Amino acid sequence: MTASAAETTDQYGVVGHPVAHSWSPFIHGLFSRETGQAMTYRLYDFAPDAFHERVREFFRQGGRGLNITLPHKIAAVDVADDLTARAAHAAAVNTFAVRNDGTILGDNTDGTGLVRDLCDNQGIVITHRRILMIGAGGAARGVLAPLLALSPAEITIANRTPERAEALAKAFAKLGKTQGVGFRYIAGGAYDLIINATSASLSGDIPAIPPAVVGPDTVCYDMAYGKTDTPFVRWALKLGCARALQGWGMLVEQAAESFRIWRGVRPATAPVLEALKERAALPSMTAQ
Ligand code: ATR
Repeated sequence: MTASAAETTDQYGVVGHPVAHSWSPFIHGLFSRETGQAMTYRLYDFAPDAFHERVREFFRQGGRGLNITLPHKIAAVDVADDLTARAAHAAAVNTFAVRNDGTILGDNTDGTGLVRDLCDNQGIVITHRRILMIGAGGAARGVLAPLLALSPAEITIANRTPERAEALAKAFAKLGKTQGVGFRYIAGGAYDLIINATSASLSGDIPAIPPAVVGPDTVCYDMAYGKTDTPFVRWALKLGCARALQGWGMLVEQAAESFRIWRGVRPATAPVLEALKERAALPSMTAQ
């Protein structure tokens, strides 16, 4: 009996719970077509209590790699046999790759994805610039090491719960100048770059940060994204910032970095980003 194409094609996918609205199959489908890689990429909805076992099963069955999304990114740390340095810094994994000896490497491409979008796509300079990171949860933690590697003048981490910001700043102090504060204590006037790493957009909220942090040269970046401007982007534009961007580019760039790890080729991201934005704008689509 001949093996079916599905059995002989390298298998990849994204694991979440829920996961039905993930854009990853769309993005990786375009990457594989563009690079001529023979692979499948599917959605896997694994409940938290079955996550570990089902991931192991996926790889036992010959699967080559997985992306990990909410709510599994932290649990994925314990499933990996080894972590890259950036995954260890992030304390979260968004990419599993099987190695030649069958062990699973846990990596995190979120920070690289953000930096690539900021620097390569948007031409934003990080080195010697003052950065304000809003939020001190997993999303903020995941991108701090790659940002600090570019030697900003400082990263102020501001959070609704100040203790979390202080703890995060301390955890990364070895990598560069960081400080953690509550929203009310953000000082020093306008920042060069403000990154929203809170989940406030999901509930339609804007973090209660003082407007003085935004000046005419400030670039504002929301790691969240939506069909229309996010509340943070609207807020930043209203305050007269230089530019306000949503996280679509980060989404595509983190995917491209996962693809590179798996297949050894880096896909072009610009056409995929265009296609994704067009697709997301269709009335029947929800952006997640
Ligand atoms: P994630 O992994 O998405 O970062 P998280 O660890 O739950 O998720 O962190 C969510 C972040 O968004 C936190 O910084 C949270 O602030 P608190 O630590 O004070 O909870 C922030 N956040 C969520 N909703 C917010 C809101 N309405 N205003 C301001 N910050 C908010």
